[in-house]
Amino acid sequence: MAENNAVVYKGPCNVVIEDIGFPKMEAMGRLITHGVILKILATNICGSDLHMYRGRTDIPPNSTLGHEITGIVIEKGPDVEFIDIGDVVSVPFNVACGRCFNCKEQKTQVCVNVNPKKPGGAYGYAEMGPWQGGQAEYVMVPYADFNLLKFPDPDQAMEKIQDLALLSDVFPTGFHGAVTAGVGVGATVYIAGAGPVGIAAAVSSYLLGAACVIVGDYNQDRLNLVKVGTGCETVNIANYECIADAIEEILGKGVRQVDCGIDAIGYEAHGHGHNFRDDDSTDALDTLVDVTRHAGDLGIVGVYMPIDPQGRGKNAKMGRPAFEWGRAWDKGLNFHNGQVPVGRYNRQLMNAILFDRVQIAKAMHTTVISLSEAPYAYNVFEQGMARKFILDPHNMLQHATDYISERTAVAV
Ligand SMILES: NC(=O)c1ccc[n+]([C@@H]2O[C@H](COP(=O)([O-])OP(=O)(O)OC[C@H]3O[C@@H](n4cnc5c(N)ncnc54)[C@H](O)[C@@H]3O)[C@@H](O)[C@H]2O)c1
Ligand SMILES: [Zn+2]
Ligand SMILES: [Zn+2]
Repeated sequence: MAENNAVVYKGPCNVVIEDIGFPKMEAMGRLITHGVILKILATNICGSDLHMYRGRTDIPPNSTLGHEITGIVIEKGPDVEFIDIGDVVSVPFNVACGRCFNCKEQKTQVCVNVNPKKPGGAYGYAEMGPWQGGQAEYVMVPYADFNLLKFPDPDQAMEKIQDLALLSDVFPTGFHGAVTAGVGVGATVYIAGAGPVGIAAAVSSYLLGAACVIVGDYNQDRLNLVKVGTGCETVNIANYECIADAIEEILGKGVRQVDCGIDAIGYEAHGHGHNFRDDDSTDALDTLVDVTRHAGDLGIVGVYMPIDPQGRGKNAKMGRPAFEWGRAWDKGLNFHNGQVPVGRYNRQLMNAILFDRVQIAKAMHTTVISLSEAPYAYNVFEQGMARKFILDPHNMLQHATDYISERTAVAV
């Protein structure tokens, strides 16, 4: 039986590569006749993994990580009809049955049949069911006909694999943030956070027709990257005690609010102005409440966990952020939150990639590395490196030579 090396969480800021054994076609005491085994081509590290990596969730040690998976089908169960061995596929990070009332309404983020604890499943994630993480060599994907997005031509897919690898989560997540924030032709948009999700939200906002997109962060490298990659405006939030002042400088005198607000940070936000180095879990929400116009929409794709072992105080530990709810209510703002239902958007965004409408990998500065380099990549991504790391467990993608030489120069 083949080995299956995977990224395994051992405790805060400690991940290792271990053989976890070849995946079985079973889960939750059931035989998975509708599943496939994938040889993983590309599996990305996500800001969502960082919540677990930092010990800000209750995920137990020895759990496997990874939910952004692209692969080749090497085995299939007897009930898989329309997916074949050799297909190159993207795996939405939501595990979904395709048969429950939520899946039937495209709310695959809250499938009721894939997690004994609550609606909603994902690979390798705290509280999201028993599914093996995808930062590995092989993984089992259940309900394959429903879940998998097959790329039309495997050779063309390999040519654009770094872009297509972003369809399992981060591109649809940014797009969902923009759609739910009401972005359309001529919109002005503020995006809190210039990580990969913030970049995806900026790319998506332009795809949807936004006139002016403003991205805020205190990480100047990331702001430079998103500006070059998308042509957006940027705000270094360390330089402003009031983010509306920065909005006014960009949109013009007296215009201190945008039409649409997107939270691409979540509960691990820092403050702004003189507090930019400090944790402030409600900074993104408070900023969006301030800078989004009355009756505007907020696309809150940044994660807020119900349990945060390191939260400051009882409320923070129990996922109860104390933000400006009264002002939000008074302004009539609309909140849209939760995990993105990837399957609602991934096919359209695949076409946008295949027909050269977007260069999402370039905008994010994707960087391909081997599985064994994952502990290093977690470390530098956690420190805010302006990259999106793609792990290449079978060395089938092209290595980014610039990164390899750079790596030797970076002290860890
Ligand atoms: N809803 C979903 O389905 C979904 C899917 C993927 C990721 N996410 C979440 O989206 C969020 C972003 O993901 P990512 O991969 O870009 O993470 P990331 O950690 O790489 O990026 C977050 C960025 O926010 C910046 N930041 C912190 N405080 C800030 C503030 N007050 N104002 C502006 N910027 C600030 C950080 O400097 C960092 O660059 C995470 O919470 C992640 O878990 C949600
Ligand atoms: Zn992710
Ligand atoms: Zn379902």
